[in-house]
Amino acid sequence: MNTQQHPKSVIVIFGATGDLAKRKLFPSIYRLVQNEKIGSEFAVVGVGRRPWTNDEFRNNVTDSIQSSTKESKNLEEFTSHFYYHPFDVTNPSSYLELNDLLGNLDGTYQTEGNRIFYLAMAPEFFGTIAQNLKKQGLTETNGWSRLVIEKPFGHDLPSARKLNQEIREAFNEEQIYRIDHYLGKEMVQNIEVIRFANALFEPLWNNRYISNIQVTSSEVLGVEDRGRYYENSGALRDMVQNHMLQMVALLAMEPPIKLTTDEIRSEKVKVLRALRPVKEDEVSNYFVRGQYANGELDGKQLVGYREENNVDPESQTETYVAGKLLIDNFRWAGVPFYIRTGKRLAAKSTKIVVQFKDIPMNLYYKKGETLPPNLLVINIQPDEGITLQLNAKKDGDAGDSNPVQLDLSNDFHDGINTPEAYEKLLYDCMRGDATNFTHWDEVALSWSFVDPISEAWSKGKAAIASYASGSMGPKEADDMLAEDGNQWWPVK
Ligand code: BG6
Repeated sequence: MNTQQHPKSVIVIFGATGDLAKRKLFPSIYRLVQNEKIGSEFAVVGVGRRPWTNDEFRNNVTDSIQSSTKESKNLEEFTSHFYYHPFDVTNPSSYLELNDLLGNLDGTYQTEGNRIFYLAMAPEFFGTIAQNLKKQGLTETNGWSRLVIEKPFGHDLPSARKLNQEIREAFNEEQIYRIDHYLGKEMVQNIEVIRFANALFEPLWNNRYISNIQVTSSEVLGVEDRGRYYENSGALRDMVQNHMLQMVALLAMEPPIKLTTDEIRSEKVKVLRALRPVKEDEVSNYFVRGQYANGELDGKQLVGYREENNVDPESQTETYVAGKLLIDNFRWAGVPFYIRTGKRLAAKSTKIVVQFKDIPMNLYYKKGETLPPNLLVINIQPDEGITLQLNAKKDGDAGDSNPVQLDLSNDFHDGINTPEAYEKLLYDCMRGDATNFTHWDEVALSWSFVDPISEAWSKGKAAIASYASGSMGPKEADDMLAEDGNQWWPVK
């Protein structure tokens, strides 16, 4: 690639001593350099409370790369672009010193005054940091300034609105990149391509031919060491408000008139506007919440959620949510979108199953049997690809029909070759492409959908169901689909 096309920027990471930086951000920047997506015109400034030196920071970056990628070529040259700046987010002089450092790095690395401020830290400081960046002049450069914000973006609509107002005092909407890492996943990005580039699917993509759509994101891991955060969040805020609703929006949106950021976002917004609101007193008709109890997975005994660190022994926090969403527009009226997500389930899997309606007459009718439906399965992770379930003739057995699977797996031999979500999102941000980031309107609409549900649950409406660790969630979630004559399709 011609170096002229490489995006140039200083990336300032707030929370650089934290877990996200170590697990995701440093390896992503490394791969962008190794894959020649960015050249040598970049520098990374790690900002944190700890009094680290540049060398300590660089050693930490080296560890992070070595433990996450099998390669470790040119590590010394790579880490020489990394600088550490001890920082107090509430102290104006910290910002002034940082500004001097950024000015120097612009000269050293020819980054043309372009700056990414990446907030990968406790959300209570997002507003303060954004405002100080502007007040102390860090956003006034010859180049561009962009603000990347990690979740959670608020806790409910009022807190999200307050946060948004604070950051909007310093950055305009075009400069704000709200991360939803699901939007960086290869197969989530593929939803649009599968839908809009295939004559085969789009004509069938509506309530005349689709019976229901299921979106599952199941995890094997429990809450790990995030009890403190999770107790105030729960699966609804942690997964549904963002990742799950984003996938639903991509599945349900109308074809945009162009593949531009604004057009795509505006179609997604329309879906979120068409979501039928769930009123507080009808939440249990549409949503099931669950919490993992102890159980067993792969021969290992697992403790229940209430026994985890930093979790209240009487916690009512949900670690599982299943829901039935209805989208009140012409295309989707009457088609349920079922979503479910949970921790300590039987498999790590994110999968979308589109179930087509039955054909008008079953010529292959056998007493007591129905013909299996056609399914389009979009495998997001860990496998990537699509599967189409059709019915075909059984070998040698005239007049009989059997389900067969057409499998299209992405060439996914080695995680290293598949760009990580964060790698793609960072690169998009450096190039100024905000398509795969969440616009404020999407955030606001998602919270307005989710808020009455959490409100009802916090008032104790609808009991919390218990499920064994290592199972696929509470029975109540199966019952919800059974009432509609449907069933969850397996994720494994
Ligand atoms: C994060 C949640 O946003 O997504 C975590 O905070 C969850 O609780 C994670 O584990 C799941 O992401 P992935 O990419 O592993 O499906």
